[in-house]
Amino acid sequence: MLAWTTAPDTPSGLTLRETFDPTPLPHETLVRVEAFAPNPGDLAALPGLPPGSVPGWDGSGVVLEAAADGSGPGQGERVLFLGLAGGWAQRRAVSNAMIAAAPADAAWEHLATLPVPATSALRAIRRLGSILGRRVLIVGAGSAVGGFAVQLAARSGASVVAVARDAGQHDTLRRLGAHETHTALASVDRRVHGAIDMIGGQHLVDTYALLEASGTVIALGHAAGTDERFPYGAFVADPTTADRSITSFFLGNEPGLAAEMGYLAEDRTLEVGAMDVQPWTELPAWIEAGAPRRAGRVVFRVDHTTAT
Ligand SMILES: NC(=O)c1ccc[n+]([C@@H]2O[C@H](COP(=O)([O-])OP(=O)(O)OC[C@H]3O[C@@H](n4cnc5c(N)ncnc54)[C@H](OP(=O)(O)O)[C@@H]3O)[C@@H](O)[C@H]2O)c1
Repeated sequence: MLAWTTAPDTPSGLTLRETFDPTPLPHETLVRVEAFAPNPGDLAALPGLPPGSVPGWDGSGVVLEAAADGSGPGQGERVLFLGLAGGWAQRRAVSNAMIAAAPADAAWEHLATLPVPATSALRAIRRLGSILGRRVLIVGAGSAVGGFAVQLAARSGASVVAVARDAGQHDTLRRLGAHETHTALASVDRRVHGAIDMIGGQHLVDTYALLEASGTVIALGHAAGTDERFPYGAFVADPTTADRSITSFFLGNEPGLAAEMGYLAEDRTLEVGAMDVQPWTELPAWIEAGAPRRAGRVVFRVDHTTAT
């Protein structure tokens, strides 16, 4: 089969080459990959991969061989999946903990955008406990994870406060369910029960300061790439600030994602926003250009006309 493999001597760090088909373990499903959508995490991981590795987390496709142990979706089913490697290829073996059947008419591109961002948003919201009737702050709401977090928090009954530095995204965020929109945290004037932060750095420091007593911030992302420096007094508790916490998780370590992925794939109301669909041969040029998302989430369609 053909796969993008790591090649440190190329400008993008990738080369398309012939490689061995994956051999699925008993609990793995063999899929034909139709589309994949790179995440910031895929791209950050690229330089650390050994030469010749096949990168790629999220994707969608069709089951070629069901898992030998009888678990997971059946042959011919349309699926979405994730794993920490192997996705930028014509075929891939996926653990059944991370694959779910999708409606037969779901678009490959739509499904490929869901696994890491939408499942991360769902798991982050669950960590906040019941948010019915409570204020929930989404920092970096214009990101892929943020857009899903706004929708899922709103349908969970929260009053959603969305912060996205680009005011041009605010109408969309309100349509997705945000009750308040802000370009910066400085204008958020009431405390929140919970928060999900995609940005980190000073955003995390300021988000923590906005928590009410017993509130939690999920430090999910670190897009700013800057340090977090908490001022003296940030953790001095009084009756209005006691028992606040900051926590984090890594989706790749989360057990049993298949059920949530299936739920998200079934949901016809979940919006993924604009998509910039490109042939997979454009992957290296996109990476060399700095992986821009100017026209929405970038999704690559896999070419099987040169299948081997
Ligand atoms: N812990 C986990 O398991 C997990 C899972 C999924 C994602 N993540 C992390 O979560 C973050 C979001 O992921 P994603 O896929 O949603 O990313 P994304 O769609 O690429 O969005 C990144 C967002 O960060 C914003 N941003 C970047 N630098 C900023 C800065 N200095 N100040 C304010 N905003 C800034 C961008 O705003 P503009 O649009 O205005 O440029 C954009 O909205 C990433 O750090 C990712 O690695 C972690």
